[in-house]
Amino acid sequence: MKIVVVASFVGFSLGLNSPVFAQAPTPTVVDSPTVKVLTGLLAPQFQEEMNFITQALGVTCATCHARGNFASDEKPEKLTARRMLEMTKAIYTQNFPEHKPKPGESVLGRVTCYTCHQGERTPKLPPG
Ligand code: HEC
Ligand code: HEC
Repeated sequence: MKIVVVASFVGFSLGLNSPVFAQAPTPTVVDSPTVKVLTGLLAPQFQEEMNFITQALGVTCATCHARGNFASDEKPEKLTARRMLEMTKAIYTQNFPEHKPKPGESVLGRVTCYTCHQGERTPKLPPG
């Protein structure tokens, strides 16, 4: 089961070429003390999740990350984003237990950052 997932992501990762995640030739699992929610992901898969987050909020990597140090938790936006990751993961595990993300789809599943944010840093809030 695990091997199938890994193989499909290796295939999917072909063509991606970011200096941040560049690793050769076999992608390794992103393992860091400041990766607390998106654990157990291969580097290309982790990169995709960061791309999804960035697009969903209409921001850049630097909105959440301190310059030159992705592992740093010094920016409050990153801490908020981690809370949001925890919330989104909880929505998924509690409400969509049957769903299995396909290759290329966010590991967050059916409800993602985009569901609420729709490309905006602050989602539309209820009137009043
Ligand atoms: C909205 C905030 C946000 C944006 C935008 C964002 N990230 Fe992240 N990033 C996070 C959070 C939160 C974590 C930690 C995730 C966790 O705890 O599971 C993280 C973790 C990482 C890590 C792992 C660092 C470590 O601990 O070793 C890397 C690398 C990374 N991001 C790169 C990027 C890149 C490249 C971009 C732009 C394409 C990006 N991020 C955009 C919030 C963000
Ligand atoms: C269920 C809806 C929902 C989902 C899903 C969601 N958010 Fe949010 N997010 C919000 C709301 C609402 C706010 C504004 C809170 C406020 O203004 O008090 C917000 C605010 C934020 C902020 C602070 C923006 C700022 O400028 O201060 C960040 C960063 C953020 N979300 C990241 C994320 C990320 C990353 C994800 C996906 C992992 C995500 N959110 C998923 C509803 C959501």
